[in-house]
Amino acid sequence: MLDNLAPQAPDALLALIKLYAADDRADKIDLGVGVYRTDDGATPVFAAVKGAERKLLEVQESKSYLGPEGDLGFVHALMPYIFGADATMGGRIAGMQTPGGTGAVRLAVAVAQKAGVTRIHMGTPSWPNHAQILADIALELVPFDHALPDGTANLDALLNVIRNGQMGDAVLLHGCCHNPTGIDYTPAQWDEIAGALAASPVFPIIDVAYQGLGQGMEEDAYGTRRVLAAVPEALVAYSCDKNFGYYRDRVGALYVMMREESALPPVVSNLNALARAAWSMPPDHGGAAVRLLLEDADLTRAWEAELDTMRARMRQVRATLAAAGTAGSVDLTPLGHQNGLFAMLPVSKEQVERLQSEHAIYMAGSGRINVAGLHSGNIDRFIAALAAVTG
Ligand code: LMR
Repeated sequence: MLDNLAPQAPDALLALIKLYAADDRADKIDLGVGVYRTDDGATPVFAAVKGAERKLLEVQESKSYLGPEGDLGFVHALMPYIFGADATMGGRIAGMQTPGGTGAVRLAVAVAQKAGVTRIHMGTPSWPNHAQILADIALELVPFDHALPDGTANLDALLNVIRNGQMGDAVLLHGCCHNPTGIDYTPAQWDEIAGALAASPVFPIIDVAYQGLGQGMEEDAYGTRRVLAAVPEALVAYSCDKNFGYYRDRVGALYVMMREESALPPVVSNLNALARAAWSMPPDHGGAAVRLLLEDADLTRAWEAELDTMRARMRQVRATLAAAGTAGSVDLTPLGHQNGLFAMLPVSKEQVERLQSEHAIYMAGSGRINVAGLHSGNIDRFIAALAAVTG
């Protein structure tokens, strides 16, 4: 039977990790998969997370099952950061733990499909796994242009989708630090988006995978909060993989907001049933440690300070690239006002291949770079190489 399977290409982003590891050139530069790196090129465990993990080792008395919803203490502890002072919107928001942000997105689109969503509108380019997840559950993807050539968001394309949408349509939005472009909607644009959604049957699903890596924890939540204040129902997928550095431990959550608290239980029961069938229950370790971290004022302060340092470093890299002006035919100035780990460079597949083969610089074939892979020791070489292949 299994001979019937056609071979599948490995996920291009994950394949880059192996290609980079196999390259023995000493000055290689990894701008591929989205992990934060320090100025030394390392991705250390957050000190605050280590502190929480030590505490977890001491206080955890059982590893018995929790249930498909996972650690609800973790789920609730995150809510003020995502949703603000009234973190439950008057009891209208419920949540559950998921295996990373991918698990949250997967569950979000699966429950939306079960509720009657037949099409997902999505700004492209987007994180490649969004399309892969939709294809896997056979939900139609309707693309629209996310960005304009000047490096800002194409607001009109999104508003057009929202204003002309019908029942059964959903829109998948990036809450902040758009992956792969780094191009976020401005607060004024989010105001317009929220207003349009309020008057539209289009159902919002927001993917928040990089909170705190753009402008700040509060600032990066602006769009999500504006949309949720305007609409009767929404789903919010959340990842702690980047802002707590939990990548491989897969720490995420999915939140649902309904028009009133009494409408939540049927939705939550469907989420639990879908999660049970997909992964039964999420891995506990990271969520439990994040809960302990957020329950401890000192660890929380330490985590916020580490996140501030990360964000400041990425802003510094962006400022340096923007200050360079152009590298060959590539205008780097828009990167200065974009957000998060990623930026898209207008380079061809051949130029990406030359950067890899001639300069040991690894980036996604789409032209996406992870700006956190650049630091004081390699940024000049990167700019020079980019100029050499595009000039
Ligand atoms: C990325 O886009 O590089 C990250 O979100 C990692 C992943 O899972 O693709």
